[in-house]
Amino acid sequence: MAFGKDNLKMREYIYSLINFENVNSILDIGCKDGLDLRSMAKLSNCKAKLYGIDIRDRFINRAIENSKDFSNIQYLIADTSKNIPFEDYSFDMIYSLNVLECIEDKGIFLDEVNRVLKEDGLVVFCHFDWDSVIINGKDKPLIRKIVTAFADNQQDWMGSVDPWMGRRLLGEFNKTGKFEGSIFTYTITNSVLETGNYGYGMIKDFEDLVNDKLITREEYDKFHNEMLELNQSGEYFFSINMYIYVGKKA
Ligand SMILES: C[S@@+](CC[C@H](N)C(=O)[O-])C[C@H]1O[C@@H](n2cnc3c(N)ncnc32)[C@H](O)[C@@H]1O
Repeated sequence: MAFGKDNLKMREYIYSLINFENVNSILDIGCKDGLDLRSMAKLSNCKAKLYGIDIRDRFINRAIENSKDFSNIQYLIADTSKNIPFEDYSFDMIYSLNVLECIEDKGIFLDEVNRVLKEDGLVVFCHFDWDSVIINGKDKPLIRKIVTAFADNQQDWMGSVDPWMGRRLLGEFNKTGKFEGSIFTYTITNSVLETGNYGYGMIKDFEDLVNDKLITREEYDKFHNEMLELNQSGEYFFSINMYIYVGKKA
């Protein structure tokens, strides 16, 4: 998915929830190509050493390439689902965006997050609720089919899939009994279909469902043409909610 202006604006909101003042070390779990770490490194109030970890070497290779100009970012390839390869109490902040749904045993994983977090450290976990993407259109069954097919689709880098992770995020932390925190919500809303808008990227990504044989080429083309028509008539509407858990050790 393209990193457009919506992605950057959303991150501005997420970072506004964080007091970076005494944060000297940050771990981004599932950092992919390092967008968050580079964005944090550019913040005037963030002086932390930044660590990114991802299970896929192709993502980390890209992250290293993208971060050549940043001396304070380090990357590591590892599967963090059962073990986060750092000492106890290593980080002032653990950050993760759109990763928790990929982890099969969230209890084991969150125990690990707790272990490597300092006593007064901060956890910031963010997740879309992929099953509640809102797209206007005339063919409701087709739009529902496409949204659900995309949400339920387990991609090769995902150990599991849960398109309801956004709405479950607070509960996943609460049920460990090891964290206390609250949920913040950021809504992306697009009323035009244009590059840089999150909806534009997602609607393009839906085309992959044809290759995955989850929808037909005809269904995608019908859907896509309708989006173009709605954009012309001023009826295009796309919206998605990002849920942000900000917490500490209980
Ligand atoms: C939806 S992407 C989100 C990437 C990034 N946080 C972002 O928002 O751009 C999920 C990322 O989590 C990584 N991932 C999935 N399971 C993982 C695991 N067990 N350990 C480490 N990384 C994992 C994937 O490789 C992928 O880069």
